[in-house]
Parts: sequence; C-alpha cells; structure tokens
Amino acid sequence: MDLLRHELIEGLTAEQMYISSKFFYDKNGSKLFEWITRLPEYYPTRTEKTIIREYGHQLFAHLNHVDIVELGSGDSTKISLALDAIPKNQRESITYRPIDFSSVTIERSKKILSKRYPELNIEGEAADFTKLKNLPNGQPRIICFFGSTIGNFEPEETQNLLSNISQLMNPGDQLLVGMDMIKDLTTLQRAYNDSQRITEAFNKNILRACNNILGTNFFIPDYDHRAFYNEEKNRIEMHLEARSDQFIKSSYFTGRIMIKKGETIHTENSHKYSFETIEQLAHNSQLSVRNVYNDSQKWFSLVQMVK
Ligand SMILES: C[S@@+](CC[C@H](N)C(=O)[O-])C[C@H]1O[C@@H](n2cnc3c(N)ncnc32)[C@H](O)[C@@H]1O
Repeated sequence: MDLLRHELIEGLTAEQMYISSKFFYDKNGSKLFEWITRLPEYYPTRTEKTIIREYGHQLFAHLNHVDIVELGSGDSTKISLALDAIPKNQRESITYRPIDFSSVTIERSKKILSKRYPELNIEGEAADFTKLKNLPNGQPRIICFFGSTIGNFEPEETQNLLSNISQLMNPGDQLLVGMDMIKDLTTLQRAYNDSQRITEAFNKNILRACNNILGTNFFIPDYDHRAFYNEEKNRIEMHLEARSDQFIKSSYFTGRIMIKKGETIHTENSHKYSFETIEQLAHNSQLSVRNVYNDSQKWFSLVQMVK
C-alpha cells in the first residue's frame, strides 16, 4: 500500500482520529483555500501581503543572481509581490523554484508567472518540503515560506522542519517565514468560522479527498465543522464532528472504523506565535533572527532568519 493511504489509515485508527492537513489541498481544496484567503474574516493573507508590499523593496529589490525557493507555494500570489519589487533586468538572473505537493498548483502558477515575468527562470517541483534532502546549489538562496504554513505542524515537527532547512542553508542564504501571532480570541475564532462558511466547506472537503484516495464511505452531511482556539497550545484546531454513529469502510482495511456521535476527526492545527517562541524556534534550529517585519497591529510577522 502506498504511503498516503497508510498515513490516512494510521490517522483514522488513532485514539484521537486525525487526517493530516496536507490532504486538504486537492484540486477542489486548493480552490477553496484561495477563496478563504479573500474572506473579510480571514486576516492572515491580507496582513502578510501588506507586509510583503511594505517591505518588498527592502527585502527583494537588491536581489541578483539568486534562487528564490518557495515552500508550499500555493497560488504564488505572494511571490508576485516580491518579484514586482525586483527590477526587470535583475529578474533575468533569478530562478524561482516553487515547491508544493500539488503538481496542478505548480503548473498553474508557472503558467501565470511566466506570462507576467517572461524573463524569469522557473523550475517548479512537486514534492514534500518536509522531506527535502538538498537545495539547488550554485547561487545564494532566499527561501520563502509564506502563509503561516509552518503553523500547521506540531511543535516538534516544526522544530525538525526548521532544523532541516537550516542544515541545507549556506552562510549568505536567508529564510523568510510568515508566522501568525497570538491575538484576541474573537479575531482568531472568526477567521476560521467565516459567515460564508467557506472554511467549513474547505474542512469538509478533506473527507472527499479521503474517499478519493482510500475509497472510504464518508458522507459529508454527517459531519459538522468545528474550529476553536486551544489556549493551552496556542493554536486554532479544526475538527469534523460526527452527527451520529458512523461506520467507515474501505477495501484498504479489514473491518470497519466506528466513529461515535460527537467524536471528532482532527483535521488542522494553526499555531500562533509570540516573539519569544519565534526566537526560540530559530535558536533551536541554529538560525538567528535578523529582522521581524510586522503590520501596524502586530497580527502577523514576516521573520527573516539567517545562518
Ligand atoms: C496554507 S497554504 C499556503 C499557500 C501560499 N504559500 C500562501 O501563502 O497563500 C499551504 C500550501 O502548502 C502546500 N503544502 C502543505 N504541506 C506541504 C508539504 N509537506 N510539502 C509540500 N507542500 C505542502 C499545500 O499544497 C498548499 O499549497
């Protein structure tokens, strides 16, 4: 059995059932996520973009003969803001390397970006950035990790991921990480419980993705969207709660998985950070924080780390 199916079964048979958030991003899920980023309640995308626009000149305008590697590149709209800050004649010397699970997403952004910046070299890769073994060598690298995607991992996984990236970095490379900050509860909870219920559709779509990969019989209307802030762990958690007892079947496992009424499947964590935890994470990864760029409310940070 392949790794993805194995991972899904492991999650569905765990005491607290879970489906890894990476399964959100099938074709439908990626579209729904792009929709979420434009919702009035969903402040992270808007705020991070404001920061990139405001500090884009300082961060990117001088770049020449570098590789821009983007982890979890998604629709690549944020990198466009960075590329806009670089003069056209310098862009010719730059290679943009988006890395994302989704090959569809990579191809789509490649098409859009090569139309907008015909002089730019683009080398996309459909890969898992948690398993990176090397980075292209030859010119300095600026590694962009936008979208607070880093917040989706458990603290230990985040530490491992940053340490791995750090090991692959050379002196002179830099890492730019978008990190969502701890803030008032109402703003946080509203961002994941929008009035148009797009986040709900995004959350539920993971069951469809699971049915497609594992041939399970999840029936979406049998589950409710739950998103709340876990204050102890400083994170928003998303779950799907069964409305009644469910029996899940698949040809990839024997027997049935029973989900009792009120039980949940944990689908996402979105950790929120303080300046102290950011410093700590960098320090534990043998990186140092050179700069932290913020919006005026300090809701979001773009953290520049170097070796
Ligand atoms: C929260 S979205 C952020 C997209 C974009 N960076 C932004 O800021 O709007 C996360 C993206 O990372 C990708 N992704 C998540 N985990 C990944 C992994 N382990 N390896 C590669 N891509 C991953 C998803 O496919 C998705 O496009």
